[in-house]
Amino acid sequence: MEKDFFFDQKKNDPISRVDGRAKVTGTATYAAEHKVPNLAYGFLVGSTIAKGHIKSLDTKSAERSSGVLAVITHVNAPKIPGYQTGKDPSKPQTAGQPLRIFYNSEIFYYDQPIALVIADTYERVLDAAKLVKAQYEKEVHQTELEKNLGKARIPSGPRKEDYKRGEAEGYKNAAIKIEQEYYHPVEVHNPMELGSIIARWEGPDKVTVYTKTQGVEATKKSIQDAFKLTPENVTVQAEHVGGAFGMALRTWPYEIAAIMGAQKIGRPLKLVLHREQMFTNVGYRPETIQKISMGATADGRLVGITHEATANTSAYEEFTEATVNITQFMYACPNVTTRYRIVPLNFCTPIWMRGPGEATGAFALESAMDELAYKLKIDPIEFRLRNHADIDPEHNRPWSSKHLKECYQMGAEKIGWKDRKLEPRTVKDGDWLVGYGMGIGSFGAMRWVATVKGRLQPDGTLLLQCSVNDMGPGTATMMTAIASEAMGLTPDKITVQMGNTQLPPGPTQGGSNVTSTVGSAVHDVCAGLKIQIAALASKENSVFRKGKNPEVKAEDLIFSGDGIALKKNAAVKVTYSDLFQQNNLPALELTKESKGQEQPYSMYSFSMHFVKLRVHPATGRLKIDHVVSCADAGTIISPKTAASQMIGGAVGGIGMALMEDLVVDHRFGRPINNNLADYHVPVNADIPKVDVLFVNKKDPFTNPMGSKGLGEIALVGVAPAVANAVFNATGKRIRSLPITPDKLI
Ligand code: MOS
Repeated sequence: MEKDFFFDQKKNDPISRVDGRAKVTGTATYAAEHKVPNLAYGFLVGSTIAKGHIKSLDTKSAERSSGVLAVITHVNAPKIPGYQTGKDPSKPQTAGQPLRIFYNSEIFYYDQPIALVIADTYERVLDAAKLVKAQYEKEVHQTELEKNLGKARIPSGPRKEDYKRGEAEGYKNAAIKIEQEYYHPVEVHNPMELGSIIARWEGPDKVTVYTKTQGVEATKKSIQDAFKLTPENVTVQAEHVGGAFGMALRTWPYEIAAIMGAQKIGRPLKLVLHREQMFTNVGYRPETIQKISMGATADGRLVGITHEATANTSAYEEFTEATVNITQFMYACPNVTTRYRIVPLNFCTPIWMRGPGEATGAFALESAMDELAYKLKIDPIEFRLRNHADIDPEHNRPWSSKHLKECYQMGAEKIGWKDRKLEPRTVKDGDWLVGYGMGIGSFGAMRWVATVKGRLQPDGTLLLQCSVNDMGPGTATMMTAIASEAMGLTPDKITVQMGNTQLPPGPTQGGSNVTSTVGSAVHDVCAGLKIQIAALASKENSVFRKGKNPEVKAEDLIFSGDGIALKKNAAVKVTYSDLFQQNNLPALELTKESKGQEQPYSMYSFSMHFVKLRVHPATGRLKIDHVVSCADAGTIISPKTAASQMIGGAVGGIGMALMEDLVVDHRFGRPINNNLADYHVPVNADIPKVDVLFVNKKDPFTNPMGSKGLGEIALVGVAPAVANAVFNATGKRIRSLPITPDKLI
């Protein structure tokens, strides 16, 4: 195994989350917590129908209620300039017209905002909001995917092409085949932090917002476009984000409403969504029906796979995700057909949720692989090894790196795969049936564009600045780890400033790109600073040139918090303080932009999840005993936060497999479990021992550190590992998520 620069050094002393103390002591400030004087409070009133028009609105009693400053509706809403042009003010990567809040009387979904009530205290606004009354002209809504499959259509935006490799429906010629349908219900992100925003105008065309977003630059652009403001007049801040999982990947109408409201009352306005509104107004993982047909030779070589997915979108916009794409490259298979369709329903537009598309797709693909392996009487690991894709079969080019085979090996050993039996219901522990399952995950290893500024001070402290923010994975910790390694500085010497558009622009935190993107820029800043330092040390008057010594290069020097020393003779050294003083420099500053380069390789991260669980056949109770998640994510930059990502992904995957399900009362088109008591997510008692393993081998091509993303692959493949373990335990193949006890009796 090649030596790894990052992991070896830190294995015994991995860097701790640099903002951990701020988070657990409550000093980390989240969007709604910023102290802004003269704050007013907003509350959104939602539609009680799922489709139709507002016939009339009675806002009089609300307006007369104590402390009420304004009630904004489509009747009196200020015109949002970006809405008039018909151009998309929130720039999503979706086709169609994003919801324009208070634009007209049309209702597209249940709980769509129909009024923004603003008052001087939170209690008063809650009280007044109840007084808004609406009359509707109701139309027949559609909220059932299955009933609307006839409306399935090819998306007009991205992902519209059907994919074909080899022969269409090539699986049909195989000796052994399966054809199955898989179902995934609506899943809601529901991070702990609610959607929240404080908007403060500082003049007629200048605004600052503190808002929950995964990308301050993207939010800034949306606000600029909606309100037709110049870039220097919009500031967005969101350093800390209390979880998001994708729900803050776009600017939502409630944010536009708050900015509109603050402008109308001429006061700063705070708007925090209620938990129920988190189920209706800020996206979700769409309901998806998939069909997989798969065939293999009798000795377990894949002949063909056909993967079709149909998912819901909203009635006004087209949302798409990469549900079938994983099937196009995961296995060496000559004949692959994929089709992706969307169906408009009366809900808010979905939004990517952790492992978007791939997670849903992998549930079907990896369940199907397990089904076919069982039919072939081949161990599922062996079946995957026989169909291992040595190169990317979709693009017919090599991988930048792929260590999935190591994942199989490491994970299988850890979970005790040798104790698994091919035949279900054969491993027992008292009354309990014990099962083992596995599933693989993959996600593109992306690198976007970022600018990072570094400032090395005479006291050997380093300041790093970038507008990227952190929804939880540990952005600042990753940046600190890279700089600490590169500059020989202890983490306490490094300060990261981020999450504000006044800083050099960073990327949105999504698609597992941030370590690769921002990390590369940090790496380049440090490398550049070291070159500058070496140049200073090479000047005529420098101690390094005494006795006609030659010029020094960065690689000739040891860098530390104290300054620099010569590798060959550590007695030759200088502090940063002296070095900068000799050169009349207050500090050294450097800004670097990093962007990905086109590579002749396919760049993906891979993961392999193993689950051991038990099912009580009489009651259907299911207990997970052990999860082992193994990732090929290139170099692991920050082992602690990386492991936390993997554990979080396993938890999310267990939620997907066993619990999460937004139940809609189709008579009214509204969710009935719109709270965290009824919408189940795993709690501590549901989460067993989770072991995280990393291959930790440097990818030669992704970026200078050799890292690949891991936030998404942590979840992709977990749900099928659970479902496959359920089959191994019980002989019941559950193709419809979530796997609740009633399905196991
Ligand atoms: Mo992730 S679904 O790109 O936040």
